[in-house]
Amino acid sequence: MVRILAIETSCDETSAAIVQDGRVVLSNVVASQVDLHAQYGGVFPELASRMHVEAIVPIMAQAMEQAHMGWGDLDAVAVTRGPGLAGSLVVGVNAAKGIALAHSLPLIGINHLEGHIYAHWLKVEGDGVPTEELCFPLLFLIVSGGHTELILMRGHGQYELVGETLDDAAGEAFDKVARLLGLGYPGGPAIETAAQQGNPAYHHFARPKVDNPYDFSFSGIKTAALRLVQSKGNIGPQGQLPTGLPINNIAASFQTGVIAQLVERTRAAAQEYDTTAILLSGGVSANRALRTAMKSRCSAPVYWPPLWLCTDNAAMIGAAAYWRFQAGERAGLDMDVEPGLRLAG
Ligand code: KG4
Ligand code: ZN
Repeated sequence: MVRILAIETSCDETSAAIVQDGRVVLSNVVASQVDLHAQYGGVFPELASRMHVEAIVPIMAQAMEQAHMGWGDLDAVAVTRGPGLAGSLVVGVNAAKGIALAHSLPLIGINHLEGHIYAHWLKVEGDGVPTEELCFPLLFLIVSGGHTELILMRGHGQYELVGETLDDAAGEAFDKVARLLGLGYPGGPAIETAAQQGNPAYHHFARPKVDNPYDFSFSGIKTAALRLVQSKGNIGPQGQLPTGLPINNIAASFQTGVIAQLVERTRAAAQEYDTTAILLSGGVSANRALRTAMKSRCSAPVYWPPLWLCTDNAAMIGAAAYWRFQAGERAGLDMDVEPGLRLAG
């Protein structure tokens, strides 16, 4: 039995978890800063790292307590070392090093995206993947506020980045357009709710042209949404919208455009690489219209974990760390954060 304390602080969630054998979540404590950042309309990096500093020790203590663990029960400590915000990553990495040193535990550095991938191996009630049925090759679509990546996985630890966004992440586009429409932050859920009352055929947002058929681009659709609003009248200095603006229709049309792009690329990649399943994760995969469209347009089965494993959490880092631990990987205490870390095969 392998029990790993995992730490995640790459963006605006401070999280610690204890995961057993890469599959069983013994505890997973998440302190979200989303309400704090809401007033800035996005993540404020300085503030994020300061909040991680305040939260990390109590969050780790809570994770240990909830799992009824003493330090002697642990086999390793794992932490996200990138990609993410440098000032945020450093808080988690330093905490993990401190624990590794104080309790003579092996240290394992994890790529945040690998965490999102391994979230699908965790045993959960209800939603989620029937783990025993996962056979390689698998296709992962990671869609969050910071990421939009299509990753092909041919075996444990073997990845190929098939496609990625060339500009904004999908969630970022949701957040920016929600802000434009005065719908608040985070924008994804707000757009989804508004879209339910709107007409998706109100406006057709053109698909971007990208060289690689599996790459994404969302800056064009974001700008097109701005132009559409401006075509209805002037936007005031405080973001006041033109009177009578059909916000719900614009939200529905925008959401449809983003989803169409996500689904088209994913479907094409799943076909090309003949993957046995499509696995969604990241905050945007909470979007019901995306899930429905993906399921109806793709022939491979489509899975997503429950929401608490879709968004940033340390349990997924513990799941990824298990496979690395078993493969004998150990990091030195000189391990550094890598804000621009890529997923290497
Ligand atoms: O994974 P996540 O919680 O944090 C990171 O960005 O790492 O993802 C947050 C993103 C935000 O951009 C938010 O607007 C988006 O996920 N999101 C959604 C929905 N719920 C959250 N986007 C579309 N539809 C949703 N229902
Ligand atoms: Zn994430």
